[in-house]
Parts: sequence; structure tokens; C-alpha cells
Amino acid sequence: MTTTMYHNLIGGQWRPAASGKTILNLNPADHTDVIGAFPASHAEDVDLAVEAARNAFRTWRLVPAPKRAEILLRAGNILMQKKERFAQEMTREMGKVLAETRGDVQEAIDEAFYVAGEGRRLFGVTTPSELENKFAMSVRSALGVVGLITPWNFPMAIPSWKLFPALVSGNTCVIKPAEDTPLSTYNLVQALIDAGLPPGVVNIVSGLGPTAGAALVEHPHVRAISFTGSSEVGSQVAQRAAATFKPVSLEMGGKNAQIVMNDANLELALEGALWGAFGTTGQRCTATSRILLQTGVAKDFTAEFVARARRLKVGNGLDASVQVGPQVNAAQIETSLRYVEVALSEGAQLLTGGHALTEGPYARGTFFAPTVFGGVRPSMRIAQEEVFGPVVSLIEFHTFEQAVEIANSVDFGLSTALYTKDVNCAFAAMRDLEAGITYINAPTIGAEVHLPFGGVKHTGNGHREGLGAIDFFTTWKAVYVDFSDKLQRAQIDNAE
Ligand code: UN1
Repeated sequence: MTTTMYHNLIGGQWRPAASGKTILNLNPADHTDVIGAFPASHAEDVDLAVEAARNAFRTWRLVPAPKRAEILLRAGNILMQKKERFAQEMTREMGKVLAETRGDVQEAIDEAFYVAGEGRRLFGVTTPSELENKFAMSVRSALGVVGLITPWNFPMAIPSWKLFPALVSGNTCVIKPAEDTPLSTYNLVQALIDAGLPPGVVNIVSGLGPTAGAALVEHPHVRAISFTGSSEVGSQVAQRAAATFKPVSLEMGGKNAQIVMNDANLELALEGALWGAFGTTGQRCTATSRILLQTGVAKDFTAEFVARARRLKVGNGLDASVQVGPQVNAAQIETSLRYVEVALSEGAQLLTGGHALTEGPYARGTFFAPTVFGGVRPSMRIAQEEVFGPVVSLIEFHTFEQAVEIANSVDFGLSTALYTKDVNCAFAAMRDLEAGITYINAPTIGAEVHLPFGGVKHTGNGHREGLGAIDFFTTWKAVYVDFSDKLQRAQIDNAE
């Protein structure tokens, strides 16, 4: 069978990378299933894309925001119509189960409808001037060309979190999707084109981070970068972008804790932990990777949690009976294996899993057994560092205060969850857990698009997606209108 060739999207034209080189997009559940060949882009491709985006900015910024928003609304409707096909294609390229890829497309639909509303709500601020017959206001304006670098774990939702607010604000975009999952970004952008997005307003440059991504970050005409990925790469992005004073929005790693108190509804806490730890094969930045158990429930919870983790069905995400898909690639399997070694060498107790699955139905993919470690101490590396796989650590504690201290003892701060019936604990947790997101009696995964999404400490650099994205993709302009018909000096130049 011939391999389908995909090209970059530059100024409305589909064109191969200047080098002619490509990267194969393979199904992680079955490497013989080739989704397509995508361009391996370099700086010269990025230059063309940025140039196209600069040209398009001249007219796009003048399109009224409610009109820009109508395109998003139409794109959301198109995504709804094509949801099943896009979900199937996403499961093929990324691995997660169909129910979850439907959710990923749904998240882009929700984002489209949410941000379309923002087109009539790009509010500024007016304030009285200090002088007579003078009017003062603050308006939001677009930044220009923005660069978007997106990960493979939410291949359509996360690009939508960045593209839609950037577009409604009047920016034009160059997006570099993750090399493991470019097709879902193509599908998303195709929906925008079908909805009437003019050529050049969104450009796609596929390729690797060190080549295509770095060129975008360093490009002198790119005005801002929005990045989701690892903290290591995020730090590089921020440092390189600093050379040209670009604002950078970073959304990075997590080491998310679910705390289970003695008085919790144990069944609810078990279901939440299982979903939080092994949903998306543990490959969410919001995934539960530490379960903190109060001593009174630790034994029962552990026994039942391990039993349920063993029963999870791992396999090809297109099979409706499968609960846990493959990891996205061999490098992620290596990382999971490395952390199993680390945990064992630190004295953690392997309760289930701890190995890749390679036989029979697993032979042609990158599968990993759901893995649980018990007897984990909060200072161990397995309790401190992000794994980004189906590996979870159980940690015991005595008091609520201890649980908060352990939860906060990591460098990351994205999501946290507390299971309790005690309203006092719940409110203390909402106040004291160092994280951008806290759930009470719900798992660490499952954020809604219209709330602020992002984290503290090494998880982010202060920006938020969802509620907050428009703040990143616009800049303030202060406007003064003097209708006195005379030179009025400002108060500072007028003082007695
Ligand atoms: C991510 O893991 O990178 O909150 C995003 C959630 C999803 C988004 C996760 N809505 O779990």
C-alpha cells in the first residue's frame, strides 16, 4: 500500500518541507499501520509560514471579532459532524481508547463554542480621565503572528485551546503539532478552513522540536509562543524566546496527588483513582500519579485498587472492550521502565505491573502494564518526578496536615484531588494545596474548557488556558481622546 503524504499548510497552499524529508506517523497499537508521512520541517519552512501569517495578519486583524467568532462557531459544528471519523483517526495515531478520543474532539467542540462567545466579549475598560473633556479607555489588540507548539496526548483539544483564542483575538498562527500526532491538528485546521478561515491565517509546520519548534521560538517576527509539553523543553523554550522578548505561555508537567481521607466514600475514591491514574494510559499532565491514603483506609484501598488495576483490559483503543490503550511510542515505554527500576532501587514495593507487554496481541505495539507501587515515601524519585505513563505510587499519611504537606512537596503544581466528607478539610484543601486545579470528590483529570487551566511552580509560568487565554493572546492599548480643543497637559505636567 502506498503511504499517504501530508504537507505543510502555508498561506493556504499545501506544500512539502523544503528538504523533501518526512516523518512517518505510526499507530502505537500496531506499527504496521502507517497513518501517513508528514513533513520534517526546518527553519526555511518556518520562515515561509511566518511570512504567510504576517501577510494574512494585515487583513485578519481588521475582521470584526464577532465575525471571526462566527468562523469558530461553524468550525465547532463541522467538528460535531465529523467527530466519529476524527476520533477514529486520533485513536489510530495516538493510541488512547475511542471513548477518550471522542472526548478529545468534544473538548475542541466545547472550546469552539466557548471562544465563539468571547468574540462578543473582548471587553476593555473605561475609566474617568484626570482632566476635563478627555475620555480614557483601554482596548485589547492582537499581538500579530503567534507560534503554537502542541503535544501528542490531546492532539486536537490542546491545539484548539491555543488556536481558537488566538484567532478570535485577531492573531494569525503558525502551529507545530507533535510529530507523533500531526493528523489530528490537520483535521482541526481543515474544519477551520471549511468554516471559511481565510488563507494564511493558520499555517501548519510539521516536524521535530529541535528543528521546526526551535525556529518558531526564535523567529524575530513571531510575537508570542504558547507551548504545552515537558518542563525540560518548556524551560528551553522560555530561555530561547527571551532573546527576542516574546511572551511565552507554558503548560508543563504534573505530579498530581489524590488524597483519600478515612471518612471518604471509598468506592468513589477507588473509581476516581483508577480513572485518574490509568485513563489515557497515564499520559495526561493532569494524571493521578500519587495516591495519598490515610492510615485507616490504606489497607482496604490498596487491596481493592491493585485488584482493579490488574483487571483493566489493555489493548488497541479501537476495540470497544479495551480500557487502556498503548503508550504513544517506544521512548515513553523506556521512560516507564526506567522509573520502575528507580522505584525498585529506592525500596518501593511493586504491587502489580512494572513491565511492557510484548507478546501476542501486544507484539506490534508499545503497551505497558498498569503499574502500582506501594510503600512509597514522599521523598523518593518515583514520588517526585513525572513519569507520564500508567505508573502510580501509593503513599500513607496520618493527618490531613501531613497529606497537604506531602501533596505540596513536589516541584509541580497542576492538579490535586481530595476525597472526604469533611467540609472543613475540603475548604482547607481548596486554600492550601499548591496547584492550579483542585477537585473535591472527583479525580485529578477532567478539567472543563471555560475555567482557568494551568499550574504553579514548575508546571507553568503564570499563564492560564481556558479562562485566561485571551489575556495571553492580546495586549492592552491605552487610548485617550481629548475633546477640549486645547492643549491640556497631563496632571503631572500641570501641578501647582
Ligand atoms: C493534559 O493532560 O495535557 O483535565 C490536558 C483534563 C483534560 C485535559 C488534560 N480536560 O484531564
